[in-house]
Amino acid sequence: MSDMTLDISLTINGEPVAERVEARTTLVDFLRDGLGLTGSHVGCEHGVCGACTMRVNGEIVRGCLMLAVQCDGATVETIEGLSDSGEVADLQLAFEQRNALQCGFCTPGMVATAQDLLKRVVMPSRAEIREHISGNYCRCTGYHAIVDAVEAVAKQRSSSSFRGAAEGREPGIQMLSHASLDSGSGAARRPGMTGDK
Ligand code: FES
Ligand code: FES
Repeated sequence: MSDMTLDISLTINGEPVAERVEARTTLVDFLRDGLGLTGSHVGCEHGVCGACTMRVNGEIVRGCLMLAVQCDGATVETIEGLSDSGEVADLQLAFEQRNALQCGFCTPGMVATAQDLLKRVVMPSRAEIREHISGNYCRCTGYHAIVDAVEAVAKQRSSSSFRGAAEGREPGIQMLSHASLDSGSGAARRPGMTGDK
């Protein structure tokens, strides 16, 4: 097979990156093997399990189904970026508190997918949560605790938005606890949450 390489420039978790990559390298392999961003996991490599879920230009994608060269000029956000920004801190805390993870292999992709749903739907039903995470496989939890965690965060964010609107803050601004905003410790840095496997 040809080892043709191409130069790409993109933004990853807010940082500009310019690299030369083999044309056949998948996005998730580029991030994991090339840049050491191992939070996105590789399970099936066929777009089935969701372990490699990340955001490209604001939409969640399977990192195993995109080539790195397709992301030239794109904005990529991995679980590391979502963790460091505090965007998913409340989800991570809820997963931990409700035992919505065991081995943690699915968790980065599951959190990214749950966050995608909660950005689109303020208060999804349990059926909607199940539907949205149905492309993310978990071999450990039986899913019930994951649905509980996502539902709890939806309620928490919904009431925070309501309180924010009542207090004159911009709707949609989340009220996160001090602990959940501390991305340098606790749930946001818990092994398996950013996925250091
Ligand atoms: S590794 Fe990408 S969907 Fe399974
Ligand atoms: S926690 Fe083990 S696969 Fe989901």
